[in-house]
Amino acid sequence: MVGAMDSLELVAREVAACSACALASYRTQTVPGEGAAPASLMLIGEGPGRQEDAEGRPFVGAAGQLLDRMLAAIHRDRTNVYIANVVKCRPPDNRTPSEEEALCCAPFLSRQIALVDPDVIVTLGATATRLLLGGDARITRVRGQWHTLGERAVMPTFHPAFLLRDPRQKRLVWEDLQQVAARLGIALGDGSADRGW
Ligand code: URA
Repeated sequence: MVGAMDSLELVAREVAACSACALASYRTQTVPGEGAAPASLMLIGEGPGRQEDAEGRPFVGAAGQLLDRMLAAIHRDRTNVYIANVVKCRPPDNRTPSEEEALCCAPFLSRQIALVDPDVIVTLGATATRLLLGGDARITRVRGQWHTLGERAVMPTFHPAFLLRDPRQKRLVWEDLQQVAARLGIALGDGSADRGW
């Protein structure tokens, strides 16, 4: 339930003022998230990298460009989805955020989910998947299957940064994205034109 006065702008302002964990001391700026709200589809990554930290926007580096192509393949873009991360500050050397850091930042993400009110959440990679589905959820085991977060459907899939390292896994992610499109009623035709990402 969204508090009557809550808004994504308020979340972003509170994120910008946050120093609740050690990541605050490494950031150039916070990266709260961006996109449409409400939106039927929300994507959740791990945390800002170097370029995101410099620009204050999520997924603007190489992984973000791949994410944009993945979204285009299901006829979506940043004007009709919301994109956020588990942590809103860049971890030093792009290390994985600790569980403590993820939990510290989680109230911001919960409010963003409530405000965006998506039907479907795609968790990108292990960190977001563990936070939303529980600590023992293994991405290799749970991806490609529907899970729930309250009344919302959750589809875990591989992180685009992983796909840049191992492009052969795109085939599996494309299966996941097709499931997401079907759930949202997005017609993809025969898919041959969409697979180019
Ligand atoms: N990787 C993420 O998980 N999030 C970003 O915003 C960029 C790269």
